[in-house]
Amino acid sequence: MTEPTFRTVIEPFRIHSVEPLRMTTAAHRRAAVREAGNNLFRLHAEDVLIDLLTDSGTGAMSRDQWAAIQHGDESYAGSPSYYIFRDAVRELFPYEHVIPTHQGRAAEKILFTVLGGPGKVVPNNTHFDTTRANVEYTGAEAVDLVIAEGREPRGDHPFKGNMDVSALDALLRARGHHVPVVFMTVTNNSGGGQPVSLANLRAVREVCDAHGKRLFLDACRFAENAWFIREREPGQAGRDVSDIVRDMAALAHGMTMSAKKDPMGNIGGWLAMHDDALAQQCRNLLILTEGFPTYGGLAGRDLEALAQGLREVVQHDYLRYRIRSTAYVGEALHRAGVPVLTPVGGHAVYLDARALLPHVPPLQYPGQSLAVALYEAGGVRSCEIGTVMFGRRPDGAEEPAALDLVRLAIPRRTYTQSHMDYVIEVCEHVARRADELTGYRIVDEPPALRHFTAGFEPVA
Ligand SMILES: Cc1ncc(COP(=O)(O)O)c(C=O)c1O
Repeated sequence: MTEPTFRTVIEPFRIHSVEPLRMTTAAHRRAAVREAGNNLFRLHAEDVLIDLLTDSGTGAMSRDQWAAIQHGDESYAGSPSYYIFRDAVRELFPYEHVIPTHQGRAAEKILFTVLGGPGKVVPNNTHFDTTRANVEYTGAEAVDLVIAEGREPRGDHPFKGNMDVSALDALLRARGHHVPVVFMTVTNNSGGGQPVSLANLRAVREVCDAHGKRLFLDACRFAENAWFIREREPGQAGRDVSDIVRDMAALAHGMTMSAKKDPMGNIGGWLAMHDDALAQQCRNLLILTEGFPTYGGLAGRDLEALAQGLREVVQHDYLRYRIRSTAYVGEALHRAGVPVLTPVGGHAVYLDARALLPHVPPLQYPGQSLAVALYEAGGVRSCEIGTVMFGRRPDGAEEPAALDLVRLAIPRRTYTQSHMDYVIEVCEHVARRADELTGYRIVDEPPALRHFTAGFEPVA
């Protein structure tokens, strides 16, 4: 008998331990969000029903990760847990030096402290917010060179995270002396969770070689990126995802990592590279800020959980479910006429707030308005990725970001399909009343990364 095939892609796990959700009323949520200065980062998480603020550190760990935690060895120096972690990283990213950090931005801070500085220029497809902030904090300039299709909210380009290779070449010709490293973010989070193709990585590497530049990956969602390559790139179908990841790694000289994403950790990160001298400089800073090089900012048990997470994230059944379940939400919203970024990315669905709220000018933050409305209506916490996050320039001026998006980031292995059906319903409900939503103004903001802590009030 031939193997029957079924349309439904199921969660490749069953539930082993549960956490209660707290039901709240719309009146309670309105009061809570006012109290939080209309900033969803400032809410108490207990007041949130479905938390799609981020996919970072919020995933469910597996039975085998919890078991690995018991194996953690907390020796200050030379812990066996470090070597288990290092070998699991090297299985996919075979770099000479693997330096643990407490999360991704700590890796960025260390690397850009060594490589950045006034007058330097760092190109990336699109810098993530912490990456941009860490580059700019050193006085260097962060330049985004994603392809033109990657700046369009809609389209069907299979690799909208790709770098514009000729723009990179032109930048390196003009200002190459000042470029210490070229970065590629896989998948491209700020550009909609869009993947980068192997062909593009190869072309970028060739340009870097021609100009004698290092190429680094910001590899938080490497497995999701590799799955997209397997699904979409000619010649890659049917390949093992781990092999594709190793191909991606081989095209770069090193990486920064937030292990709170694809490695399935609640905390963690790392820096990895071949260059001995650079690694030495990074380790020296690590000791100053994070800890001894065999634990970085982590406990031995965290290192063990990450090693196990790395083995789980490259499993095809997991990745098929992961990418399909994100697409499920995006496709349902698209069918309901809610403007979403297409194609749907790997870890999140991005609502196009500028298109949904054309009456709210970008400098009155349509993304913020939509995100607050989703919370008030249904307790769904999302994240503005637009003018609030990217509108303040280093010289103090404010200008509209390229897009005003609201990201529904989906934590790994955490919510079921009925949770997602509820989210879809809440979005449809708010979209039907979009013309009633008003803009916001900022009443207080910090000098950098303002979206985390700024206070807002509605424009009358
Ligand atoms: C692409 C990208 N780079 C870097 C980071 C920073 O990582 P962390 O939050 O662990 O500091 C993130 C986090 O969301 C990210 O998505």
